[in-house]
Amino acid sequence: MSQWIEISTINALADGAYERFEFDDVDVLVFREGDHVFAIEDLCTHDGAELCGGLYMNGEIECPRHGARFCVKTGQALSAPAYGQVSTFPIRINDDGVIELQLEDA
Ligand code: FES
Repeated sequence: MSQWIEISTINALADGAYERFEFDDVDVLVFREGDHVFAIEDLCTHDGAELCGGLYMNGEIECPRHGARFCVKTGQALSAPAYGQVSTFPIRINDDGVIELQLEDA
C-alpha cells in the first residue's frame, strides 16, 4: 500500500484555488473546494499538455492548450477534444489540517 505524503496544509491553499506539486514520476494538481481537496495528474489526456495554468471554476479545470474541461473530483473529461479520464490520486486532510497525498492512482 502506498504511503501518505504530507504536501501542504489546508490553510496554505486558498479556497477555490489549486497548486502544482512535482514528484519524481508525476506532477499533481491539488484543488481546494471549501473543506475538501482533490488531486489529479497535471497531464491533459488529449495531447499531453500541462493543465496547470488553466481556468479552474465550478469544480472543473480547462486545459490551456485546446480548452478541454475535466472534473477535478473524478478526472472525467467533460468536453472535447479530450475524451480520456485524467488520473486521480487519494488525498485527505488530517486532524492537524495537513494535506496528505498518495501517489498511487485512485
Ligand atoms: S492538449 Fe489539452 S485539450 Fe488539447
